[in-house]
Amino acid sequence: MKIIIVNDYEEMSKKAANIISSQIILNSSSVLGFATGDTPLGTYKKLVNTYNEGDIDFAEIKTFNLDEYYHLPKDNTQSYNFYMTENLFKQVNVKPQNIHIPNGMCESIEEECLNYENAIEQADGINLQLLGIGTNGHIGFNEPDVKFEATTHLVHLDEETIHANSRFFDSIEEVPTKAISMGIKTIMQAKKIVLLASGIEKSEAIYNTVRGHITPEVPASVLQLHPDVTIIVDNNAASRL
Ligand code: PGA
Repeated sequence: MKIIIVNDYEEMSKKAANIISSQIILNSSSVLGFATGDTPLGTYKKLVNTYNEGDIDFAEIKTFNLDEYYHLPKDNTQSYNFYMTENLFKQVNVKPQNIHIPNGMCESIEEECLNYENAIEQADGINLQLLGIGTNGHIGFNEPDVKFEATTHLVHLDEETIHANSRFFDSIEEVPTKAISMGIKTIMQAKKIVLLASGIEKSEAIYNTVRGHITPEVPASVLQLHPDVTIIVDNNAASRL
């Protein structure tokens, strides 16, 4: 694991955007894995700026998102489809047919998950996967007690995650309790992984991920076994390292 400690959120976002931009410049048909949540927002903003300056081109880029809420329509402002459209996709020239996000409104979960895995395989795998991390150490929606061998599947969200995500909804009752998420196996097959964390509330999860035992109790700890992981953390998130 390569750990980069930076001063603040701004610097974390700049470094992450620079790494993603380099990936796009080195391979203009890269397959990028994207994440949602507050953490990557600054990164997406910087990528849009770099795109507007003419330094990166998304014309041949393919994207796969980590997860989507189950049974939340695409046009719901809290869906990850909506988030990605607003914060990145509609601001760059990525082709709609190259964008992949699990369909939370699918009729058959089994079919949806299988198709998602097949689409990643047909794209020759993910070149660079961006990750955030939950306060409980989750990556994607792979909650503690995770099965490391899981591929894309339906997950039941942890109480801690439902509580953390309730800040985006009018009430905690509105937070979906299930999601479709890439599994740990899917994530571990990405060729390169960049994990971002900022804020004191992530410090324990980062400590457990980097210094702790590899355990299903801390899903992100499995990243210790990946050959190419870069963790970019601000001083607060790194405070226990
Ligand atoms: P956050 O979420 O970026 O909103 O903190 C991260 C996560 O839960 O994976």
